[in-house]
Amino acid sequence: MVRGSSMKPGDPFLKWAGGKRKVVPHLRAHLPARFGCYHEPFVGGGALFFQLAALLKPPFTGVVLGDGNERLVRCYRAVRDNVEQVIRILELYTVSHCEEFFYALRAMDIDGAGDHEVAAWLIYLNRTAFNGLYRVNSRGGFNVPFGKYVNPTICNADHLRACAALLQGVQIEHEGFEAVLGRAQPGDLVYFDPPYVPLSKTASFTGYTRGGFGPAQQEQLRDVALELAGRGVCVLLSNHDTPEVRELYPAKQFQLRVVPVARAINSKGTKRGKVDELVIVARGAPRS
Ligand SMILES: C[S@@+](CC[C@H](N)C(=O)[O-])C[C@H]1O[C@@H](n2cnc3c(N)ncnc32)[C@H](O)[C@@H]1O
Repeated sequence: MVRGSSMKPGDPFLKWAGGKRKVVPHLRAHLPARFGCYHEPFVGGGALFFQLAALLKPPFTGVVLGDGNERLVRCYRAVRDNVEQVIRILELYTVSHCEEFFYALRAMDIDGAGDHEVAAWLIYLNRTAFNGLYRVNSRGGFNVPFGKYVNPTICNADHLRACAALLQGVQIEHEGFEAVLGRAQPGDLVYFDPPYVPLSKTASFTGYTRGGFGPAQQEQLRDVALELAGRGVCVLLSNHDTPEVRELYPAKQFQLRVVPVARAINSKGTKRGKVDELVIVARGAPRS
């Protein structure tokens, strides 16, 4: 079900695969009492950011959100800087909404448009595509089919304005996660919520960005986490609780906490698996 007018302050404005709404209370239990800047290099729907932001007071000077998905980054910037224009377009889309309109908009070459148009395009598709998924093909074409929702809330103007207020002063970058190495200082907090290690070969979902996110990127991320922790940055990660992930994050260097979310992962209709998640905290000692 697409979330609509029931959204509360601190809820994200996008429904994002791997969204952390259920995990946020467990993540918050592991946050340091004080930290310098906050970095979230895989922001996606930004579930932790919006919860934290609703508790702290904007405008922020030390918050950097990043993502490898350029359209998502442009959407965040437009909501931050130009929310009224985004709302105006979404109100027009609400009137036009039907299956035919969905496929026409989906096929649009959106990358040449302005940020506010990219934002309205993304939010509209997020509210109306099957399961609210964002998935692209190898050419970057959005390829999720129409979701058969009855009266989806396409424009929740008050909630978008509330999110825009929380984004004031926030730096939003289109970049790979490793860019955080050039920015994070001792005492800062970095939360990494990467595309998860797949539960099986057929269950893999790495379609958020064109390049995907495979084992080499998972290892690179682990090494970035260790490097940051070695320089005194507080590093929190999340991932599935699987043997592969436990092998990637050994107890000597990382503290692992199971979060009993029993997330349902669906690869092929009938094959539903359930898996818990891990909150992973990098230990501060430098690598031996
Ligand atoms: C699991 S989602 C994040 C979910 C988010 N925490 C939430 O609450 O909705 C992972 C995000 O990583 C982004 N991503 C994939 N590869 C990346 C990379 N190499 N560098 C930065 N971001 C990347 C994807 O676009 C996606 O938005």
